[in-house]
Amino acid sequence: MPPVAAAAVARRSVRAFTAEPVPGEAIEAILAAALRAPSGGNLQPWHIHVVRGGALARLTAAMRLAQEAGEQEVPNHPVYPEGLWEPYRSRRFENGEDLYRTIGIERSDKAGRLRQLAQNYQLFGAPAGLFFAIDRRMGRAQWIDLGMVMQTVMLVALEHGLATCPQAAWALWPDTLGELLGLDEHMMIAAGMALGHEDTAHPINTLRTTRQSLDEGVTWHD
Ligand SMILES: Cc1cc2nc3c(=O)[nH]c(=O)nc-3n(C[C@H](O)[C@H](O)[C@H](O)COP(=O)(O)O)c2cc1C
Repeated sequence: MPPVAAAAVARRSVRAFTAEPVPGEAIEAILAAALRAPSGGNLQPWHIHVVRGGALARLTAAMRLAQEAGEQEVPNHPVYPEGLWEPYRSRRFENGEDLYRTIGIERSDKAGRLRQLAQNYQLFGAPAGLFFAIDRRMGRAQWIDLGMVMQTVMLVALEHGLATCPQAAWALWPDTLGELLGLDEHMMIAAGMALGHEDTAHPINTLRTTRQSLDEGVTWHD
């Protein structure tokens, strides 16, 4: 397989990281490549915040406190459309079931599920977090561009021996993020991303997700 296809197939969301730091040069190299992602009209309608060290400790501590206090914020945008329909509903359901099965959390174990969800806000132990900001005046077309950058980051990270997890979960905490990242009124975080070395011993990283077949996902018009 050519290397790009191999990376596309090998990439997966990793939800437990080791504490091994990620060298700044590696992050720089990954982002320099990712910033070559295409965008309509070459608008490059994104800004990436790299959060590490003390800033990361402040963010994860703030999130821990907010959650312990049962706080909630008004989300930036809905992570899923309301009343998700088939086949998306079943895909999402199965994804959750498969994920929780890896760590032995039953469907009825609400507290266990919430504990795992909260791991999002500790970046799953990753030593670096990337936050993808977009100007809220941008439209759907520019959100496509943002996805291009994110996938490019995830693929190039593999080349540096690094794992990632894209995280829409951060859309639920716009105020905390806005303050910690110093966002101006126009900018919002579309998604976060954990970046680090995979904890290969952690059972949650045994998850291998499925995909629809070529027949299901593609219609040919000849
Ligand atoms: C935009 C986006 C947002 C996501 N948000 C989260 C998230 O908040 N938390 C999480 O654990 N996984 C999140 N994921 C990971 C998906 O669950 C994952 O990509 C999907 O189940 C397919 O699995 P794979 O990435 O291992 O191939 C997100 C993925 C994308 C593309």
